[in-house]
Amino acid sequence: MQLQIHSDDWLSRACDAIVIPFGENWKSRPQTQSLDQATNGWFSRAMESGEISTKPNKVTLLIEPAGVPARLLVIVGTGSEPANPSQVFFRAAGSAMRALATKPRKSVRFVGFGSSPLEIRAAIAGAMVGSQGQDIYRTEKNTFPPDLIEWYGANDSQVWAGEVIGNAVNLARDLVNQPPNILYPESFASKAEQVAHEAGFSIEVWDKAKLEQEKCGALLGVARGSVRDPNLLILRYQGSSPDSQPLALVGKGVTFDSGGYSLKPTDGMLTMKCDMAGAATVLGIFQAASKLRVRRNLVGVIGLVENLVSGDAFKLGDVLRARSGKTIEIHNTDAEGRLVLADCLDVALQSNPSKMIDFATLTGACVVALGNDVAGLMSNHNSLQSEIQTFTEQCGEYTWPLPMHSFYNEQIAGKVADIKNVGEGRWGGAITAAKFLEEFVQSRPWAHLDIAGPAFLDAPKPWCDAGGSGFLIRSFAEWLLA
Ligand code: BES
Ligand code: MN
Ligand code: ZN
Repeated sequence: MQLQIHSDDWLSRACDAIVIPFGENWKSRPQTQSLDQATNGWFSRAMESGEISTKPNKVTLLIEPAGVPARLLVIVGTGSEPANPSQVFFRAAGSAMRALATKPRKSVRFVGFGSSPLEIRAAIAGAMVGSQGQDIYRTEKNTFPPDLIEWYGANDSQVWAGEVIGNAVNLARDLVNQPPNILYPESFASKAEQVAHEAGFSIEVWDKAKLEQEKCGALLGVARGSVRDPNLLILRYQGSSPDSQPLALVGKGVTFDSGGYSLKPTDGMLTMKCDMAGAATVLGIFQAASKLRVRRNLVGVIGLVENLVSGDAFKLGDVLRARSGKTIEIHNTDAEGRLVLADCLDVALQSNPSKMIDFATLTGACVVALGNDVAGLMSNHNSLQSEIQTFTEQCGEYTWPLPMHSFYNEQIAGKVADIKNVGEGRWGGAITAAKFLEEFVQSRPWAHLDIAGPAFLDAPKPWCDAGGSGFLIRSFAEWLLA
């Protein structure tokens, strides 16, 4: 798919489809005037009829309207004057593109999507997300990206930045959608190496021997059940002076989570290829940040393992020694993500980061608490927490804080070892998981994003196919860009 910028009269040349957003204020839009002129007033009459919805993300395809040089005129609704227009344009562009992507198209023209650079980037990223589906191994595809997108009403650098962000979101979506027999620690690592070389950041890959040498006993405990060796990736991007402290981004990369001996039932296990979404998020943010040349130093740490059962898998009652030296009693082998992250956070601390942020499909409890569309936000630092809540909301990727009172710590105190890997019973499971992670951040400003709900869509949205969603990459790319 190619993206081109145009500034000539958008009604002067032929194309397959012209896409325009219209909300309740459609009468005052300049595109309405142009269309009325071209169609002798037909457009306004059609809109007045009330048959074309201006409700958010409703898509109407009009076939060969006389006077319009396209086979299809596509109207996508944007609703009333929105509080966060960047979210509205992302979703509207995605919805229109997804409706068009049901068939192969040569050229699709987007007109009138957004005015601020943030809105334009969001719309372009939305169009790219809408054009990629989860049907990667289907012989008969049901999603066809168009050969060409023509963009009107934006300059070079805005369109390019939007494309970079859209590509990063689609990279993460593709990684999450890859089946677990294709995507496992080693294959994720080589994909990450390829991304690093193309985008221009550095990457270090720790193999099993190095992980043993580094005493990453918590991560290695989880990995023992699989014949596939674990990996830990360290990503480094330098966009600021070498002496300025980096921001650390840490990702859970469990390429498949069977639960281990605390085996998941079939229904819960079916989608557990998604358990590396945190790792994909970190890789996506690095790809975008590096291509956008953001003026920050970043360090990324990604822990890659498969959580399986075997004669040598870790067991209930085992005691693991984390890299930090803390000992951990295993009470449930399905609480594996926090074990992987424990060592990753400890590795991240070595780079002396100013802040640490981790991304993880960590708990079902977080989905129970907040549903599928909102990520849990848990932090030891109030201003970092409110900053994250604010900028993610602006992009329409919602995060919401959960409490972190110190009394939750009592629940993870160990009897044989320092701590245990689950709380007492199920209640507050997202928080006790976060409390476990907090044991490994040495009071560094830190935030934990539990993306178990929004990282993987069980059902499609109008603007995005089901499967991996690339959730939070856009927000963090925008935050780093600001
Ligand atoms: N990967 C799961 C969490 C998850 C659940 C992700 C649903 C995406 C969708 C995690 O490793 C897990 O199994 N957590 C357990 C923790 C429990 C054993 C304390 C859970 O949520 O049940
Ligand atoms: Mn698990
Ligand atoms: Zn898991």
